[in-house]
Amino acid sequence: MVRLSGDLDGPRVAVEDSLGRPNGGPARYPPNGEYSQPLLAGESDLDVRSKYQDLLPEHESSRASPGKLAIGFTVTMLVIALGMWVYQPKLHRRGQLAVDTGYVDQSAGVGRLPFMGYNTWNAYWCNINETVVLENARLMKSLGLKDVGYEYVGVDDCYSEKQRSSAGDIVANKERFPSGMKKLTDEIHSLGLKAGIYSDSGWFTCQLYPGSYGNEERDAKLFQEEWGFDLLKYDNCAIPFDSVMKEGMVGKFTRMAKALSDLSKKTGKPQMLFSLCQWGREEPWLWARRLGHSWRTTDDINASWGSITDLLNRNSFISWASDFFGHNDMDMLEVGNGDLSYDEAKSHFTAWALMKSPLVIGTHLQGASKETLEILKNKEIIAINQDPVVGPGITPFRWGINPDWTYNWTHPAQYWSGRSENGTVFMLLNTLNEPAHMFFSLTESPWIRAGRQYSVRDLWTHTENGTAVRNFTVHGVPPHGVVALLLKDAGDEPEGLDPPCARPEWCMNENGTRIDQ
Ligand code: GAL
Repeated sequence: MVRLSGDLDGPRVAVEDSLGRPNGGPARYPPNGEYSQPLLAGESDLDVRSKYQDLLPEHESSRASPGKLAIGFTVTMLVIALGMWVYQPKLHRRGQLAVDTGYVDQSAGVGRLPFMGYNTWNAYWCNINETVVLENARLMKSLGLKDVGYEYVGVDDCYSEKQRSSAGDIVANKERFPSGMKKLTDEIHSLGLKAGIYSDSGWFTCQLYPGSYGNEERDAKLFQEEWGFDLLKYDNCAIPFDSVMKEGMVGKFTRMAKALSDLSKKTGKPQMLFSLCQWGREEPWLWARRLGHSWRTTDDINASWGSITDLLNRNSFISWASDFFGHNDMDMLEVGNGDLSYDEAKSHFTAWALMKSPLVIGTHLQGASKETLEILKNKEIIAINQDPVVGPGITPFRWGINPDWTYNWTHPAQYWSGRSENGTVFMLLNTLNEPAHMFFSLTESPWIRAGRQYSVRDLWTHTENGTAVRNFTVHGVPPHGVVALLLKDAGDEPEGLDPPCARPEWCMNENGTRIDQ
């Protein structure tokens, strides 16, 4: 049982300044010249210049007169102003500064929020067929998963014949999908859901079915126009030789991004949601936002706590990259699979949701346990993932048992926060194998205002937990467990609290007395 309590007298924080001296040391401004060459006594800067005239570069040795400088300055300003005026129409579109969105058309809102849905891979691998896909689609509806936001039903690898048709098209596997893909997407659509398909940017998929390299336009048309899919997951196996491709990772994925964009321009239909899957190679968080709506950041997940902490650790360093229309994809959910404990599954789901990863169920829904469904359907957690107002997810403000910013795949960052439409979200993760008390000063989070108090809602117990002043302690977080809190501003903190600053570094009264020395 987790016990939460507001805690008025937290420990004083021992501070060091950037030079590593405890408690800040004396003020060092203005700089004392320690790092610049000292002048000889009695010399001015000008004297030194004339003395070493011969050593100065030619243009430096004669000084421009103030008159020349003023003319030069005026001319430069005029040129800059003229340039800005000429380029103004290009910088502004509909009254706003234009943003380069690459091949992603944001006008229909596709992929603005992390997508939610189901995918066959984690539960079935290659053992898929139309019955399995439709059974899970129907369960998404009857179990209430659709109602809380799960929308896309994705068919992963192994759905096709090994060979393209004589015309060059990918062909649905006749045994596994005897009714054909159009029938499948029609059924999925009739449930009020959307349909996802899978292909690969190379010669073959990872299970050696046909990939889309060299057939991007043809396949985009097949997937969207003929088969009726709404989402494409695009993998990274069977990469053509350099001598064939003459481009790298970005170019290889750009080919399909362009095909999807061209197709949508031609048909007038919204672009397919494009989910890149190249396992974080070549840092997709730096470039994939211009090509698609999400990008896998890591190798494949598996249903073990070690895999969860590994992926969480890697993503903790790039959590800034998710925002509207482009999300780090931490891979599909393993909730309900393997030997993840209840607390581990909750931690996994909470972290994925609050870090704004797509939420893609990957378990057998037939027979899913009460706990699995309770986790997947936590509306308060999903509301943060699907926040329509705040795009970025939570980021660590303290690593906890490790020094900040340390890479540690078994013990990733423990203290996280972020903004949301309705307040500041906190995630506390106990990475230890025993229960832990977890404590933080509210203003360690950049999203909290000093001098204010906050109401605390627990997003797992769905209860209000009093008002936090300055700091907060959670007692007895279970091993590998998580606490997710929503803090809302509840007015000024009580008068006369001591110390006068919860974060005492450089805290000073108006007479110039520091409290941290
Ligand atoms: C991997 C991918 C998995 C799954 C698999 C299918 O590359 O990361 O999510 O799609 O291929 O072969």
